[in-house]
Amino acid sequence: MKTKKIGIMTTGGDCSGLNTVIQRVMDGCALRKWNLIGILDGTDGLYSSPARTIELNCKDFHFANSHLAGSILSNGHAGTINFESSARAGKLSAFNSKLKKSLHDLELDALILVGGNGSLSLAYTYREIYTGLSLVCIPKTIDMDIPKTDKTIGFDTAVQQLTQYCDQLLLTARSHHRWFVVQTMGRDCGQLALHAGIAIAADAILIPEIKFDIDNLIKHIKSSKRDYGIILVSEGISLRGHSGRPADMVSRKLNTANIPNRTAFPEHIQRAGDTVASDRILAAGFVDCAFSAIENNETFVMTTLEDGEYKTISLDDFFKAGKPQKDPNIPNMMTSNAYVEPDSNLLQIATNMGIYIGEKKK
Ligand code: F6P
Repeated sequence: MKTKKIGIMTTGGDCSGLNTVIQRVMDGCALRKWNLIGILDGTDGLYSSPARTIELNCKDFHFANSHLAGSILSNGHAGTINFESSARAGKLSAFNSKLKKSLHDLELDALILVGGNGSLSLAYTYREIYTGLSLVCIPKTIDMDIPKTDKTIGFDTAVQQLTQYCDQLLLTARSHHRWFVVQTMGRDCGQLALHAGIAIAADAILIPEIKFDIDNLIKHIKSSKRDYGIILVSEGISLRGHSGRPADMVSRKLNTANIPNRTAFPEHIQRAGDTVASDRILAAGFVDCAFSAIENNETFVMTTLEDGEYKTISLDDFFKAGKPQKDPNIPNMMTSNAYVEPDSNLLQIATNMGIYIGEKKK
């Protein structure tokens, strides 16, 4: 097979597992004797003239710490800052042409784009940027809000990080007879809170997909026969008549009900942490799938894990399977999102465990 030139870039919010993906792509290219370049800072680097890149060569660049979080390529300003300012200034087509020219100048046969639902939706919407090469996307996000895949890179490590964080908090909670209201990331998707909440057997898990009743939450806590515990609150929830951070809102209500509590915000620690084994295996599976796709001249595809099977699906399928949302940063742009489904097995499991998960399915 003819030598190929491959590019890889990581875009959107970082997460653990990106470096494992990069390392597996490096190894795969070395085995095939293909050339590999890394695009620095995501689309920011592609927008520069010339594009900012580095050669990724196993020989010169053996990356012993591929299990560390972050991305050795960097993700730029969350991947959208140039898109955003160009879109607002009505210069998106000029911006897109520049990205297209950069890719053309790099003479790539294929680009592996490791991104979240924003980046994949951008690629779907502005596919003209990637004409002339094989575009293979690998889904990553701690939010696990990407349709058509059972797992995304970084999610399991984020669940582990959050689990460990709450395990530690529970010790001090017990010592001081107080509750902790822990606010998780996840945007408007409750998967991260739901998974970690089950892992720690939280007393309550509040997620954006399910309405909750603050009085019933308070009753539930008071009936627990404990004076300490953890209430996980996803950052996407809202409480009618209240503003501010969701954990603060819930905490204020608990104070009014004389339930001693503190809030805790693990924030970007959820995107850190040594990549857990299941994320490393996911990275190996997705990258294996990406190489097959490139060898088979597929393009505009995304790797997925569906019912235990690694495969590619078209970006069309990805986009149409999701629930569309307006992108907060780019005017007239929709992203494709997945949420916790009302019939999710995990919701039932949490309920059976005696965890308060809210009232009605929205
Ligand atoms: O999408 C990943 C994510 O970590 C969300 O869970 C969170 O809302 C957001 O990114 C935080 O973004 P930033 O790092 O730009 O504050």
